[in-house]
Amino acid sequence: MTQPRKRTVILISGRGSNMTALIEAADDSAFPAEIVGVISDKAEAGGLQLAAAKGIATRVVSRGDFPDKAAHDAAIDAAIAEFDAEIVCLAGYMRLLTTGLVEKWQGRMINIHPALLPSLKGLDTHRRALETGLRIHGCTVHFVTTAMDEGPIIAQSAVPVLVADDEQALSARVLKAEHALYPMALRLVAEGKARMEGGRTVFEDFEAPGHNGLITSPGPSNDPVDLEALARFTP
Ligand code: GRF
Repeated sequence: MTQPRKRTVILISGRGSNMTALIEAADDSAFPAEIVGVISDKAEAGGLQLAAAKGIATRVVSRGDFPDKAAHDAAIDAAIAEFDAEIVCLAGYMRLLTTGLVEKWQGRMINIHPALLPSLKGLDTHRRALETGLRIHGCTVHFVTTAMDEGPIIAQSAVPVLVADDEQALSARVLKAEHALYPMALRLVAEGKARMEGGRTVFEDFEAPGHNGLITSPGPSNDPVDLEALARFTP
């Protein structure tokens, strides 16, 4: 018997390209998560219109409408509850959540970060990758814990840093990898094949997707990496 799809809410603050990748993956009724709502802390977030155009319910919970962060997060919590969510995906949600909310959702809240954690936590990751002279960069999906960008890693994709890259070219390459990685990671969590246990991610056997010219882990264990495809992997 197939399991019911996991009711999933996405939190955004901006353009919503990762949100769109998740919504499009979940358009397939065989995908194990269903996107039931999108919540933004900014009324002007471009992702709100994209979600509405795809028939997804949206809510705005503006920071400015609340006296403090605790009250704002209580309203976010209430909005998540209204959608009867089982999983929460942060997709460019630009505010740290309060400890209580994070602890309530531990193991069921995931985030995408535009770097290979634990390197380059925080903001401006592409600029810092270039400044540091990294030759490999990428993105990470992880469970959210109270320490910023420190939760157990679920999946990572690596992309090359090309000699001619500027911040825009590098961020576009990483973003393309994010759009492939996040649905794959949500699938693992929704199917219960990646679970947070004892502060780590525990995996069960799963059928890994192809690498699509990306080095992605977890990935197909015995597949040789297609270096030619990787070299072509530019936006
Ligand atoms: C992405 O780079 C994501 O990794 C980071 O914020 C950015 C959001 O972009 N957390 P978008 O709104 O998904 O287009």
